[in-house]
Amino acid sequence: MKKKPNTILTHAGSKPAEYHGAVNVPPHRMSTIVFNTYAEFEKVPNVPFSYGRAGTPTSAAFEEGIAQIEGAYRSVSTPSGLSAILTALLAFAKQGDHLLLTDNCYGPARKTSEEVLRRFGVDVEYYPPMIGADIAKLFRPNTKLVFMEAPGSLTFEVQDIGAITDAAKKAGIRTAIDNSWATPLFFRPMDLGIDISVMAATKYIGGHSDAMLGVVSANEDSWPHIKRAALMLGLCAGSEELYLGTRGLRTLHVRLPHHQKSALEIGAWLQQQKAVKRLLHPAFPSCPGHENWKKYFTGSTGTFSVILHETRREKIAKMLDGMQIFRMGFSWGGFESLLFPEQPKPSRTASAWEETGFSLRIHIGLEDAEDLKADLDAGLKRLEG
Ligand SMILES: Cc1ncc(COP(=O)(O)O)c(C=O)c1O
Repeated sequence: MKKKPNTILTHAGSKPAEYHGAVNVPPHRMSTIVFNTYAEFEKVPNVPFSYGRAGTPTSAAFEEGIAQIEGAYRSVSTPSGLSAILTALLAFAKQGDHLLLTDNCYGPARKTSEEVLRRFGVDVEYYPPMIGADIAKLFRPNTKLVFMEAPGSLTFEVQDIGAITDAAKKAGIRTAIDNSWATPLFFRPMDLGIDISVMAATKYIGGHSDAMLGVVSANEDSWPHIKRAALMLGLCAGSEELYLGTRGLRTLHVRLPHHQKSALEIGAWLQQQKAVKRLLHPAFPSCPGHENWKKYFTGSTGTFSVILHETRREKIAKMLDGMQIFRMGFSWGGFESLLFPEQPKPSRTASAWEETGFSLRIHIGLEDAEDLKADLDAGLKRLEG
């Protein structure tokens, strides 16, 4: 029976028959795994579980759930979103290879590429996020991977994912995308022919701001490279985190529409406020790549930015220090609303970010949208006062 995403999310990975009827696979605290007979021992590595680092029933449950909603061949969990990104990059890069990364990718992914990959002789090049099919002009005989992120961190441009993927496919180059923002509920990379999808499960998948977790999903052709890289890097997520990741899957389809609805309502209100210069939310025409969002995504989530007219530090501080519900924090995807001030300009090298204003990266949580608006309204008044 072909199941719809909500049913998959509710049940994937659950094995009551193996756990005395319990619907949740418990956290397995396993390093040692023993074998009953020499014949069993001889089958390693072709056994489900052989040693804690290589996988446990708890990681298998989470990975099964993710692979099912991604429509991937298989998935592997990692201890953070950043380690998931590094796994995807390292799986295909060796000394002398060329990798293309979108210029608006998550900042630490950029740093990791430079401080790990470049140090080991991999040529990392950034490309303008809105390059589309022209990405082909950057391909070299040694280009191994094109890494996308849509929408991009902080500036929220939505790339022409389809055009980039098609160009790479024609050239025999693999593609990967950071899908943490949309999750497979609102964008399915594999359906578009992307080879690898990475997510910071720390964000919407976990959803409760209490677990660091990453996951890499791959099609059949890319899977052996991904699994091997995760194994060789010694990456294994903690059992509590994996348990929380799977628990997060159970309510993802209930939480995301709430984040979406409140963020759309608050985004529409924010863009009418005179302190706001520009709204960078993929579902609004003011966001670069809005047309691409319409083409490829089936929904939007709760994370976006606004550019403010005001740039004076003391005014920004007055606004932020008085917030009653929004807290200042770097994360997003949890139940709570967050914001933080940012100036995205300095991290670009392939394409200029023309906006000069100060931006606020906002995550709309599960609170009442009217309360959130009132908190922002009072904040904007402090900014203007
Ligand atoms: C788009 C994106 N990808 C990856 C990550 C990294 O995730 P983690 O913090 O779990 O390493 C983040 C974290 O903020 C992110 O925003």
